[in-house]
Amino acid sequence: MAAKFEPKITAFVCNWCTYAGADLTGTSRIKYQSNVRILRVPCTGRIDFMMVMKALHQGADGVIVSGCHPNDCHYTSGNYHARRRWMVFKKMMDILGVDMRRIAFSWVSAAEGAKWAQLVNEVTDQVRALGPYVEYRQLVGAGIE
Ligand code: FES
Repeated sequence: MAAKFEPKITAFVCNWCTYAGADLTGTSRIKYQSNVRILRVPCTGRIDFMMVMKALHQGADGVIVSGCHPNDCHYTSGNYHARRRWMVFKKMMDILGVDMRRIAFSWVSAAEGAKWAQLVNEVTDQVRALGPYVEYRQLVGAGIE
């Protein structure tokens, strides 16, 4: 009997807002699906979207990128840089044939523990419905990178 598919979600979150929000989720004892692995970065402006591709390549089935709301970035404009980069990244992913339903970009503040739980649950359910991510790994396996 085949094992039930459980998606692996990698979350790149900024230290100052979303990481604190995820922490609040735990201290508030709000339950959410345990499929997510959090990688804390100083700011979403530091996220190179090759990091997202690398996460998919190395076994993630879905990715969350989340940071401070606009005007709340600890470094003033890092999230604006991330948002601009995101617009380009989405087009690039489309060209590569990556289903963008696997990748979520969101703002979650330090006070939004419930929103973090909801985001993780939504992305996990969505990726579970899509099934395992194999497209990019197959390209890499075929020597096309
Ligand atoms: Fe959170 Fe910049 S510090 S997005």
